[in-house]
Amino acid sequence: MPRPINVLLTGGTGGLGRAIAHTFAAQRSIPFHITLLGRNEDRLRNAIADLPKRHGGSTRVHAYHVGDITAQTFWRNIPWSSNSNGADEGNSVQVPTVLVNAAGVVHRSLLPQQTEEQVQETLDVNLKATIWACQAFAQRDLVRARRKIELREEEQGGIEKVVKVVTPNIINISSLLGTHGGLGAAAYAASKAGIIGLSRALAAEYGRLGIRVNTLVPGYIDAGMAETESAEALKRIRGIVPLKRLGTAQEVADAAMFLALNDYANNCVLNLDGGLGATAGS
Ligand SMILES: NC(=O)c1ccc[n+]([C@@H]2O[C@H](COP(=O)([O-])OP(=O)(O)OC[C@H]3O[C@@H](n4cnc5c(N)ncnc54)[C@H](OP(=O)(O)O)[C@@H]3O)[C@@H](O)[C@H]2O)c1
Repeated sequence: MPRPINVLLTGGTGGLGRAIAHTFAAQRSIPFHITLLGRNEDRLRNAIADLPKRHGGSTRVHAYHVGDITAQTFWRNIPWSSNSNGADEGNSVQVPTVLVNAAGVVHRSLLPQQTEEQVQETLDVNLKATIWACQAFAQRDLVRARRKIELREEEQGGIEKVVKVVTPNIINISSLLGTHGGLGAAAYAASKAGIIGLSRALAAEYGRLGIRVNTLVPGYIDAGMAETESAEALKRIRGIVPLKRLGTAQEVADAAMFLALNDYANNCVLNLDGGLGATAGS
């Protein structure tokens, strides 16, 4: 049984994060171990309970860790564990090879109506938590504890060959509104534009440490926060997307898997918007 590849994920109780966690946990050829980080223990426990647990005939139990992801001290004080069999010990969190920042919040209203609390929460959850998570991912003892992950297969004659190398990487989730703007989303768009700047800067800074940093830029996805749009708004959006539909959470999760496993993907800004971003001016 190969050593598990640890994936740390915020937003794993939401529409997109849940689909990403599920897709990694269901991967048959690569043994991913998922740890969800968030604020609500019940929701985290439920999300973990939903994940597929079987891999290669053995039972794998995923984990969660509760805390305030917007606080730098939370990330600084995570009790990391790097035992090689991937088993969780008490409250400890496995040293991650993949970090997915999928937590997010939106308050839809024109800027003059936004309260200080709404703007603060938007910046804290969408941007600040991602900054602290990225900072923690590259702290010196974690970089040291992380070992090169080589997946091997036994060939005829019992000789093993390396079939895949998984390098440490971070996937941050932005939004089409962060690149194109949109009515009633000023603070959200600002936070999501910040995610792209953060990820690009870290692709240069962390690339030298062997850590890849990439951004997913979903348009309108038929899950999570888009479900809170009115039926009328969703109909209008479907009408203007060139593919005439919303994306699915699975399509976003498949893109996350691509970024996690493609060893030359660094500084990717991968938009999944059905072509909506190309329609400006049309
Ligand atoms: N759905 C879309 O169409 C779409 C499009 C573009 C970009 N995105 C981005 O994709 C990401 C996921 O969105 P989604 O649609 O899955 O949203 P969602 O279903 O509303 O889920 C939001 C997630 O963020 C977590 N979260 C919110 N505030 C938090 C806080 N203070 N501390 C910790 N966790 C917090 C929630 O956890 P709790 O369970 O604790 O609430 C939940 O897991 C977000 O960054 C969003 O901006 C989504």
